[in-house]
Amino acid sequence: MQEQIKNINTLEELQALYTATFGKNGTMTARLKEMKNLDNDARAALNLENQTLRELFKTRQTEIENAVLMASLSKQKLDMSLNPMPENRGTLHPLTQSLTEIASILESFGYTMYTGPQVEDDWHNFTALNTPAHHPARDMQDTFFLPNGNVLRTQTSAIQIRAMERDGVPIKMFGIGSTYRKEMDATHSPMFHQIEGLYINKNITMSDLVADIRAFLSRFFEMDNVELRIRPSYFPFTDPSIEVDLKWQGGKWLEIMGAGMVHPNVLRNCGIDPNVYQGFAFGFGWDRLAMLKYGLNDIRQFYDNDVRWLSHTGF
Ligand code: PHE
Repeated sequence: MQEQIKNINTLEELQALYTATFGKNGTMTARLKEMKNLDNDARAALNLENQTLRELFKTRQTEIENAVLMASLSKQKLDMSLNPMPENRGTLHPLTQSLTEIASILESFGYTMYTGPQVEDDWHNFTALNTPAHHPARDMQDTFFLPNGNVLRTQTSAIQIRAMERDGVPIKMFGIGSTYRKEMDATHSPMFHQIEGLYINKNITMSDLVADIRAFLSRFFEMDNVELRIRPSYFPFTDPSIEVDLKWQGGKWLEIMGAGMVHPNVLRNCGIDPNVYQGFAFGFGWDRLAMLKYGLNDIRQFYDNDVRWLSHTGF
């Protein structure tokens, strides 16, 4: 029997012999039933035989299983030439990407980056910016008011007030951040982003302002000779105020930013003597500039965070 087990090569045959030995009608089962009729020595011998046979079956089963596994492994080939799955690497968000570009240009002109709170008080968002309560210019911005009288910042101009209050003059800075207005369509989102530059010093003029805007736009849009159109405009915190248009592909004029010479009242509100210091401010939609540069047409795509869109923009 022991030799017979060792010579079996398939699990089926082994199983058949096992059943014939230890099954309900198996030979060993029958002999074990008669054990009570045996003397002590014969019983011990039978017990030993029983145990040895069971172990042999188990060993042979493991051997056959291993042999089957090795045979099937040696038949399988691993194809090392197959291309790996494409790696899905994250990329910078288009807004982050454009901020890096904008900030590095402004910093190269000597402007320092500032941020500020998104929930602003009335003073920093409006009053200090020469827009006191009941000023009609407050209507220019559809403001989200909070129950305690604070607002969701409608413009990054608020950061300029904080910068002047804290650091005084001369100052050359730009504020960046999210801003909020109650508007929503393809080109407006209730949350959007602005960047505003400010330069206050002695003897700063309008031509310094236009020179910096021109240099900035030509660097950002990688254009040799940007064509600008300067139009008179109105902002309560600048006087004179201008709006800057940029000549785009196909000769189309695009409104790019608001700017002007900082109003004396704004300087006074920050404890600065407007008879000694003056300067300019300019502000633009950061999202809008990124949309123009990268040919995007819907501002909402920035905030949907659709991974397919993000990975198609090629940033
Ligand atoms: N804060 C203005 C706006 O939100 C833009 C601006 C900034 C205009 C600085 C003039 C000077 O529209």
